[in-house]
Amino acid sequence: MKNCLSNRVFRLISDIVAEKGQEAYVIGGYVRDALLGRPSKDIDIVTVGNGIELAREVAKKLGAQRKITVYRNFGTAMLQHEGYEIEFVGARKESYRNDSRKPVVENGSLEDDQKRRDFTVNALAISLNKESFGRLSDPFSGIEDLRNKIIRTPLDPEATFSDDPLRMLRAVRFATQLEFNIEQKTFNALANNRERILIVSAERITDELNKILISKTPSKGFTLLERSGLLKHILPELDNLKGVEIREGKKHKDNFLHTVKVVDSVSRLSDNLWLRWAALLHDIGKPATKRYSTETGWSFHGHDYLGAKMVPEIFKKLRLPLNDKMKYVKKMVQLHLRPINLAKEEITDSAIRRLLYEAGDDLEDLMLLCEADITSQNREIVKKYLNNFQLVREKLKEIEEKDAIRNFQPPVKGEEIMETFGIGPCREVGKIKNAIKEAIIEGTIGNNYPQAREFMLKKGEELGLTPKK
Ligand code: CTP
Repeated sequence: MKNCLSNRVFRLISDIVAEKGQEAYVIGGYVRDALLGRPSKDIDIVTVGNGIELAREVAKKLGAQRKITVYRNFGTAMLQHEGYEIEFVGARKESYRNDSRKPVVENGSLEDDQKRRDFTVNALAISLNKESFGRLSDPFSGIEDLRNKIIRTPLDPEATFSDDPLRMLRAVRFATQLEFNIEQKTFNALANNRERILIVSAERITDELNKILISKTPSKGFTLLERSGLLKHILPELDNLKGVEIREGKKHKDNFLHTVKVVDSVSRLSDNLWLRWAALLHDIGKPATKRYSTETGWSFHGHDYLGAKMVPEIFKKLRLPLNDKMKYVKKMVQLHLRPINLAKEEITDSAIRRLLYEAGDDLEDLMLLCEADITSQNREIVKKYLNNFQLVREKLKEIEEKDAIRNFQPPVKGEEIMETFGIGPCREVGKIKNAIKEAIIEGTIGNNYPQAREFMLKKGEELGLTPKK
């Protein structure tokens, strides 16, 4: 911490506030992270006085060209310096009246400001004042909570979460990110106030979900969300996966527990947020496709297709990007059974070619997802699948080297079909193009021009077309 505080900017702020007879402190996440040894680029400065004015003076002393961004509505100003974002705010006191949820905000002392913060570990402040430079202010035993890895609110958690329901998700996110536990009373308040999450915007919810997903062990966060009842309100499709049903002594696995295990496994292998989303959503089609038969037991036929169809709606609801990221997740969900099915059967070249064609550049990610999907407790089964998987991988490599299918474009293009038969754009062109692609994947013809051209002429004839002279 000493190193951070010897930073020129902190000294500069210290000099300025000394001159003005004002107080200033570093507060919040930066202090927490510095004490935990986590690098952080966001610095919050709280001053007992005007934050925007202080930001202006600091900017002036740092150099004439330096600009600050003022957020008048929040009474804050932000300054960028050497890759850091430094935010200045005046210390505030918040009080709630019985008849309104909106707080009355007034200027306050450091302690007033610490009281209105979400968690004890986020309420730590370090003095930038001359006489106490570097001294820690910790009125709610945040240091002890950091040491014991506890998330706890400084004041009554029921009021804290009811007033600002986003803080419920922040509690779960910090517990996951920092590998902390949520104190029991704080956790009970999460459960009691869960419905209040409905007033928080989808964007802010999704920000927190993404932070949980990019943590080391995302299952921790999703389990907390499920246990507190928050998940039902923010991602009901995932919540629906929980539970085990038994009929005639046969049971299926708990698909929620299975899913979060798959997310953890994928997270050990890849940092890709979207692959983690794919893992989270890979089985969402299961509840609607669940069937039981006395002969074959439980089945979830078509859950891959149904799940893929559900992805765009979920992305839309959560304000996740509706671009190629969504398409990627949809594709992963749709194809997630393919490699494992291949591993179960005799592996034919055409099945391999089809997978190469459909997965394209995302094949490696699909294989990771598929391997992570094997969560069976039975070591023999796991071993068998992993061995077969190895065979699938080898076969994929062999066929790819031979046929170059991965991102292939059929060797005869639409223009050539139209030109050959003297036709304009019409359904026949699409039919012939698709037939050529299918013939190559099936292995009826090779992936080369002469064979594709010959096949095109034959197919055209079948459709009643004659080549132009
Ligand atoms: N804060 C709060 N309630 C919120 C959001 C923020 O009390 N709903 C306070 C906390 O003291 C927090 C500080 O504002 O430490 C800064 O907020 P933010 O930058 O969102 O979070 P950090 O704690 O810095 O953590 P991260 O950057 O990982 O979000």
